[in-house]
Amino acid sequence: MRLQKIVIGILFAAQIVFCQSVIKSKHDLSSLNDGATIWQSTNEKQVCIFCHTPHTPQGAIKPLWNKANPSDAIFTMYSSPTMGVSSNSDLSGSYSLMCLSCHDGSTPMNMLLNPSSLGQPQMAGGYTKLGDVYYPGSPFAVFPGANIGQGYGGAVGRDLTNDHPVNIAYDASHPDVLRGDLFNPDSKPSGLGGTVSQKLLFNNRLECPSCHDPHNPNVFPFLRKTTDQGLLCITCHNK
Ligand code: HEC
Ligand code: HEC
Ligand code: HEC
Ligand code: HEC
Repeated sequence: MRLQKIVIGILFAAQIVFCQSVIKSKHDLSSLNDGATIWQSTNEKQVCIFCHTPHTPQGAIKPLWNKANPSDAIFTMYSSPTMGVSSNSDLSGSYSLMCLSCHDGSTPMNMLLNPSSLGQPQMAGGYTKLGDVYYPGSPFAVFPGANIGQGYGGAVGRDLTNDHPVNIAYDASHPDVLRGDLFNPDSKPSGLGGTVSQKLLFNNRLECPSCHDPHNPNVFPFLRKTTDQGLLCITCHNK
């Protein structure tokens, strides 16, 4: 009996450690993941469909993107006098725009290009946008939740001035690389089995998924690497 409990305990722990899946994470909006967030479908059981489709995706954006993007791709970006280059505020075609197709707070999550035979997913409580609710139980003390675009109650925010810059060309010729403030992404190991360019950049650009892996809730919140001891940050920054 005792041994049985220990074995079950070990199996359970192993499941927690090795569970690296989008299924049952906060990015699982399916009706079978009831209770993970308040943004859940009441009828759609598929998971990947909220972001990908095997057929007729959006042409301009990889990988097989199934969502309507923000109606206007111009965002106000972070800038500072010490930045080597400024971020391009037109996010058209960027990997960051995919994240912002929900995280801008104002684009509906149930506006799929290729919905299932059920039609567009119905959402619990009629909550279709991350900006529908002001403070949806963010685990962080000062963040107003996952709506980083800052528009609430239907308003359009498109404000990324208080967010780490994205949509930035980052290669060996970046002025901060030449100065030694940033590592050369073509030679710096990412610590994830390949260089920073290979593992963390998208079309040689720094984007939201450079720091986040939308499928893997293992390192909270969906991070590619831990921030303990600055690990994620010193992968790129020579500090
Ligand atoms: C909440 C949105 C979201 C959901 C749900 C989601 N993905 Fe993704 N996926 C993305 C984004 C954004 C990217 C591009 C960024 C990246 O590669 O990390 C991506 C990239 C990918 C890629 C190409 C890059 C790679 O990591 O291999 C594959 C394959 C993929 N997803 C498969 C899936 C499958 C299969 C599912 C369902 C089990 C799924 N995704 C669910 C957002 C999502
Ligand atoms: C994948 C690479 C990468 C990672 C990981 C990364 N950064 Fe950055 N960071 C950059 C790039 C590229 C810039 C733009 C630098 C420039 O143009 O001056 C930047 C800009 C910044 C700036 C603004 C600099 C300025 O001059 O105003 C700060 C501060 C910063 N990052 C901190 C962080 C922190 C903190 C982390 C970890 C949570 C982090 N970065 C993780 C690549 C990265
Ligand atoms: C289909 C809509 C959708 C897309 C696309 C999407 N997200 Fe999310 N994301 C959500 C929802 C819903 C939540 C849960 C919010 C909550 O409960 O507070 C969430 C939560 C998060 C969180 C917080 C996780 C936690 O445990 O609190 C992070 C970080 C995040 N997303 C990053 C991203 C990034 C980066 C991308 C693009 C690579 C992305 N998301 C794409 C819908 C989306
Ligand atoms: C330089 C790395 C980096 C980049 C780039 C980045 N993030 Fe994050 N993000 C983080 C870290 C680290 C945290 C956790 C903050 C903390 O622990 O205080 C976080 C937290 C979040 C959260 C959780 C906030 C909450 O209250 O639920 C969301 C949502 C999110 N990021 C989305 C995005 C989106 C969308 C983009 C692109 C526009 C993006 N991130 C770009 C590193 C990054």
